[in-house]
Amino acid sequence: MITNRPRRNRKSEAIRNLIQENHVTVNDFIFPLFLIEGKNQKSEVKSMPGIYRLSPDLLLKEIESCMKLGIMTFDVFPSLADKFKDKTASESTNKNGLYLKTLTLIKKKFPEACIMTDVAMDPYSSDGHDGLVKNGEIVNDETLEILGRMAVAQAECGIDIIGPSDMMDGRVGYIRESLDQAGFSNVSIMSYTAKYASAFYGPFRDALDSAPKFGDKKTYQMNPANSKEALIEAQLDLEEGADFLMVKPALSYLDVIKDLNANFDLPIAAYNVSGEYAMVKAAAAKGWIDGDRVRDEILLSMKRAGASVILTYFAKEWALKHKK
Ligand code: PBG
Repeated sequence: MITNRPRRNRKSEAIRNLIQENHVTVNDFIFPLFLIEGKNQKSEVKSMPGIYRLSPDLLLKEIESCMKLGIMTFDVFPSLADKFKDKTASESTNKNGLYLKTLTLIKKKFPEACIMTDVAMDPYSSDGHDGLVKNGEIVNDETLEILGRMAVAQAECGIDIIGPSDMMDGRVGYIRESLDQAGFSNVSIMSYTAKYASAFYGPFRDALDSAPKFGDKKTYQMNPANSKEALIEAQLDLEEGADFLMVKPALSYLDVIKDLNANFDLPIAAYNVSGEYAMVKAAAAKGWIDGDRVRDEILLSMKRAGASVILTYFAKEWALKHKK
């Protein structure tokens, strides 16, 4: 006789729904958006079908249409021409530049939207690195000063969440102090806590044309072979004042999400990165997988692992497909 029959809890859709532990909702999403110069400009990222770089006018429209679907939080990334890039990322604090001007516009038009920005040098750096390059090395402490100024310039535009994605040591504390001194103690920090040196960022670097001009990012981003370092990074971020801890990429790092969630009481964010999106789209286009179901399963896996926030390029299509 079999006493325990777990299948009893799977016998009907009603029972399956009744005992379902994890749910994805539109409230979980942060939708990354790519910004370009111009008017009425829309150019698809080749390696990310369905994802576009948008000029400010179209980006505003996109935010509006996403908000109608219930998506309230957006992470905006600037795609800049080479002439705006230099050694010190000086464009990152240019109030009349594309990025900061557009951020101000977005917050003016949609004060109720939650806007997140990225703090790292790569979109503005002629070296394509997240930190300052000196004699072929990415120098930590001098980079912090640049990141601190960048964060304050973004906060001045009314930004809600600052996302340091650079992986310099001490940056969360430095940015927290810079923001507080400038009167922005209400601006949140979502730290890219465990950001791995990953091949999954390829399509994103296509979108921004931001690949490193030499070498790789392994002296600052984490080794994909390691998980204990993630706990050290998380402890430091907690002590330095982070409001959220992010794991990036997400799909190959669900164990890290689970570790951080088990050990820290801050909300955990998962960044379902560009390469993860591209793989699903490519296989679905070939008819090799059911793209919609794989998308939903992937997003659910991040919730199950312990993420309460998901940054994903799937946000809008998920919201469209699951519209009530
Ligand atoms: C910049 C940054 C990157 C991503 C987000 N912020 C790229 C990188 O570190 O090279 C990747 C996002 C994605 O692949 O979707 N520091």
